[in-house]
Amino acid sequence: MSQSNKQIVLETRNSAMVLTVGSHQKLFQSYLGARFNRSADYAAVQSTRRESYIAAGMEDLFEPAIRVVHADGNPSLALRYVTHTSSKKDDNTIETIITLKDPQYALQVLLHYVTFNKEDIIKTFTEIKNQEKGTITLSNYASAMLHFDASKYWLSHFDGDYMTEMRMKETQLTTGIKILDSKLGARAHMYRSPMFYLSLDKPSSEREGELIAGTLGWSGNFQNTFEIDQQNGLRVISGMNPYASDYKLEAGKTFTTPEFIFTYTQKGKGQASRNLHDWARNYGVLDGNKPRMTLLNNWEATHMDFNQDLLVELFDGAKKLGVDLFLLDDGWFGNKYPRDADKTALGDWQEDKKKLPGGIGYLVRQADAKDLKFGIWLEPEMISPKSELYEKHPEWVLKLQNREESLSRNQLVLDLINPKVQDFVYNVVDELLTKNPGVAFIKWDCNRMMTNAYSPYLKNKQSNLYIDYTRSLYNVMARLRNKYPHLPIMLCAGGGGRTDYGALKYFTEFWPSDNTDGFERVFIQWGYLNFFPALTVSSHVTSMGKQPVKFRTDVAMMGKMGYDIRVKNMTEEEIKFSNAAVITYKRISDVIWFGDLYRLISPYEEPRAVLMYADKHKNKAILFNYILNFRRKEYLGKVKLDGLDPDKNYRIEEINMMPDAKSVLPENGEVFSGDYLMKVGLNLSAGKVAAITSSVIEITATN
Ligand code: DGJ
Repeated sequence: MSQSNKQIVLETRNSAMVLTVGSHQKLFQSYLGARFNRSADYAAVQSTRRESYIAAGMEDLFEPAIRVVHADGNPSLALRYVTHTSSKKDDNTIETIITLKDPQYALQVLLHYVTFNKEDIIKTFTEIKNQEKGTITLSNYASAMLHFDASKYWLSHFDGDYMTEMRMKETQLTTGIKILDSKLGARAHMYRSPMFYLSLDKPSSEREGELIAGTLGWSGNFQNTFEIDQQNGLRVISGMNPYASDYKLEAGKTFTTPEFIFTYTQKGKGQASRNLHDWARNYGVLDGNKPRMTLLNNWEATHMDFNQDLLVELFDGAKKLGVDLFLLDDGWFGNKYPRDADKTALGDWQEDKKKLPGGIGYLVRQADAKDLKFGIWLEPEMISPKSELYEKHPEWVLKLQNREESLSRNQLVLDLINPKVQDFVYNVVDELLTKNPGVAFIKWDCNRMMTNAYSPYLKNKQSNLYIDYTRSLYNVMARLRNKYPHLPIMLCAGGGGRTDYGALKYFTEFWPSDNTDGFERVFIQWGYLNFFPALTVSSHVTSMGKQPVKFRTDVAMMGKMGYDIRVKNMTEEEIKFSNAAVITYKRISDVIWFGDLYRLISPYEEPRAVLMYADKHKNKAILFNYILNFRRKEYLGKVKLDGLDPDKNYRIEEINMMPDAKSVLPENGEVFSGDYLMKVGLNLSAGKVAAITSSVIEITATN
């Protein structure tokens, strides 16, 4: 191989990727790993074994990144390097665009690599430009193809179902293909999630191990493919799921894939999460560096059984707790078919005159009078067959014309691909906000997947449906964000399901699960916190679990805390505790939202979970300790802290205790060096240890 091969070096603070233009102008991935100290050393990584973005129909016999059937029916693609450009997006971000072209066809593929230096993140996506004379068909269109050559590969992935989201599993990959995907249409995950860790050579721990953490920013069908070839090489392909989605791309059009976001580190899963969190706050989540509001939601408290007076009474509960906002959930709309149960009215977004004679305006004013902000639930993409909207526009619904309607939660999905439907959805939100400028928060729900889907609008291009639906949703969101750039909106999909960085550009937080049992939430939130920062993970104190309010509150505090509870049914002591907890949370939330997360003890490894957040200056840390199960005389060792400055001294103080409770933490009130705390740790299971107990420890630098 000649030393004069052209190289493209992509670097972040600690990682690097090298692409090499080899024989026949093909582009190869020569390196992905730690950044070299001397840039001259990159010249030594010249491997041209693995083509960067492999096209189907030519020499390669494994899974392709792209497959194209040209306008003339030819099913092959040869990609040759033409040129590349690198441009600075800001002081921290460089975008490199590599143009590849088929010598026989007027088809270009542009590979985008965006490097975020400080955060050690690389984001990749692809543009496919059809400059041929006719329509081409795309049947694979990866956002990323990455190659690895390790001795062994370990994949950690997250799966579950409604109420059991984000259960972590780890497995060694063997020869063949492992596909993690979804075909849910209106959301990315439920049974399987697009987030993963891939460890090289051996499983990674929190602090050690070479790995990438990656996820696709896409709110629709995804596919993550892991294929080991005959030489033990692993290719990872991430993108929209090609399932039932041969995409017809007309002449002159460009097809842009979603973004695959990943980080490479040699410092274990903890570092990978911190990289993703930093990137998410700076680039991935709307207003990711801004504070969030605490709230009281009424879903679990009342379901749809409420009226104006009851809601105003609930406002008093919000005041007693001391939260910022009251969030009115499902059930406030519909007149011809009032929304008293989940069978009617989606699409008829007018206030139910019986339940709310004064309308939303009255509620906003009442909330305002009590110095509370007001938020509201919407599910704008959906339609109930029993609705005025359905009577008026049966052609606006995704359904197979010659089959029975396939209902889920008694509802259907609107054909958002139709621009008229996009206008309708946009107007629903816009009119609500124009009429009620006091509305300060929206919960955007999406309670079903697509089944038996057919778009009347797409006519003979049905295989574009899944992709165009999600793109249409983003169109609507982009329009809304143009007019309402900072309105906080929670993303929800009948529990967790729309928890992805494609959507989070437009949303400020997400609902992780309808399972709000405190014990279960330790695991669910633990799962999401691997990939998303705490300020995006809505965590509400409810009555679902039977645990003491102290435990449920401590669990909610590890994320973005809120409530969904009948305050009237709480004891005086519980209210007193909760009010103090809200004040405490507001005082410490900066550390939780913007600090670094350290997972100290995993609930998958011990009958307890311990995690902490440390602020960027290492002056303040908050530790959460949950004892999940405890057998008599079981010994749980001391827990070594992380993320502190060894040279600073820290005061240890247990906070968020029930009124009149005394701390049993032996180190409570004492001062230790960061060095000691990270080498010896705290005795978090001293005193009367019992299952389903918890503690929150504030760690403050004294010098
Ligand atoms: C599902 C959500 O996850 C719940 O929080 C609630 O908003 C209901 N939908 C309302 O229908």
